Amino acid sequence: MNIILIGFMGSGKSSVARCLSELLGRVLIEMDELVYQKTNTKNMHEVFEKGGELLLRETELAITQEVAAEKNLVISTGGGIVLNKITLDYFKAKGGKVIFLHSKFETISKRLEKGQSRPLFINAKKIYDFRLPLYLQYADEIIDADSLSINDIALKIQKMLKDYGL
Ligand code: S3P
Repeated sequence: MNIILIGFMGSGKSSVARCLSELLGRVLIEMDELVYQKTNTKNMHEVFEKGGELLLRETELAITQEVAAEKNLVISTGGGIVLNKITLDYFKAKGGKVIFLHSKFETISKRLEKGQSRPLFINAKKIYDFRLPLYLQYADEIIDADSLSINDIALKIQKMLKDYGL
């Protein structure tokens, strides 16, 4: 069973996924990295220059179809994965557990205000408000990512999986 981490940019998906994959001895998949490989780019700005947001979303879907068929992965998704309903439906249809790292907008905005690597961070509050219900709708589990350390979040997910009998 795959574990899929979702959440807004800067909610800690990549760090938690790295920690969790080590804790569980599972292979880590960083979807943004696979997007760069598939589109022959080096960063998100290049992806957007090459084909705009559409290229990103189409590539995310193609990657999902490949990785959802595998087992026991820890997958860190891009924050916009919830925009394409079919993508998360696909993960879930293959038995994946979707975990939402819930962070307040204020926390995220403080964390990301210095970074320039995310083309969609302009209009961030609007995007956040639009996406929050989508993250909640898709989540099998919700974790308050503001009150716990990366390590504690990973331990909490490990315990959840034990409770599922996994
Ligand atoms: C995006 C989030 C980014 C990346 C791209 C678009 C989004 O991933 O996929 O810049 O739409 O929220 P992170 O959530 O890992 O920053």
